[in-house]
Amino acid sequence: MLVLGIESSCDETGVALVDASGSGAPRLLSHALYSQIAMHQAYGGVVPELASRDHIRRVLPLTQEVMQGAGCSLADVDVVAYTRGPGLAGALLVGAGVACSLAASLGKPVMGMHHLEGHLLSPFLSADPPEFPFVALLVSGGHTQLMRVDCVGSYELLGETIDDAAGEAFDKSAKLMGLPYPGGPHLSKLALAGDGAAFKLPRPLLHSGNLDFSFAGLKTAVLTQAKKLGDELEARKADLAASTQAAIVEVLVKKTLTAMSQTGLKRLVVAGGVGANALLRSQLNAACRQRGIRVHYPELEFCTDNGAMIAMAAGMRLQAGLVNLQTLQGSYTFDVKPRWNLADLQLTPALAC
Ligand code: KG4
Ligand code: ZN
Repeated sequence: MLVLGIESSCDETGVALVDASGSGAPRLLSHALYSQIAMHQAYGGVVPELASRDHIRRVLPLTQEVMQGAGCSLADVDVVAYTRGPGLAGALLVGAGVACSLAASLGKPVMGMHHLEGHLLSPFLSADPPEFPFVALLVSGGHTQLMRVDCVGSYELLGETIDDAAGEAFDKSAKLMGLPYPGGPHLSKLALAGDGAAFKLPRPLLHSGNLDFSFAGLKTAVLTQAKKLGDELEARKADLAASTQAAIVEVLVKKTLTAMSQTGLKRLVVAGGVGANALLRSQLNAACRQRGIRVHYPELEFCTDNGAMIAMAAGMRLQAGLVNLQTLQGSYTFDVKPRWNLADLQLTPALAC
């Protein structure tokens, strides 16, 4: 059972092929990625129309590259999966349109996937995949959520951000400091040369007692601090970056540990772009080691958006029996869901985990 996955929800075009035969986790055969970061950098953020046009340019050559890499032909593909949402509407439409046309021309079924389910299941692409059940900390550019995951398709939201996402907090703070887009990796690199305790920044909702997050106030505090520094900002930028990162990471770690003790689970999965952050990883690793909790991350290249996680999530849904391919066969009408709660996927009939 070969599943082709296409990701185009934001500024990365990703294509991948997995083999979902057998009972083990689907096996990644080949993947290819094109990042539009350089193109958007001139504008300081993603320009949706440019993103859509670039996905059109990249998706078919990437698909050819993946098929060559796997030593397969398109005729070998059994199912075509694509990211149906959430994301930028125009960008999603490119992946959806290409996936459905491709599937129609091959006479194969097509599956519309949830981008966050892809991130959640991305650690199954690693050599040391997690076992269910686990708590997932999902930290991407648009989402910050804590989730209880009992099996494929069973996702219980434990808490989430009430305003900005953690990735957004990194990106917006970085922008205030004049760092290039996307800010997260640049800010964390600069932070290496700074002192995380140099500036006292707020830790929003740290003691709220629930598992919700809030990062909008932090960005304002960073702006206030930057203004206060004035001409000194340039010389103190590394300290401000380190202090911002320390504030974001402290909140993420504290809430995650609370989720672990509330659920009583001993496995944690960290997914999404911010999951690549070295300070977050080292602090979570240290805290979890003390508590006998195992932490799983996707490989660094699969932390940010990619096609492999979409092919993997589709393969795992098929293996779990959550999809009836017969009912999908021959249906090539599509829509996209720019806003889409992961909890709505629960509409799938629940299976015994
Ligand atoms: O998961 P992702 O690729 O895209 C979304 O689905 O949003 O996440 C992108 C986010 C951006 O906000 C980016 O700045 C952040 O992940 N990010 C990082 C790091 N690498 C990527 N944030 C902090 N430290 C990093 N090393
Ligand atoms: Zn993402």
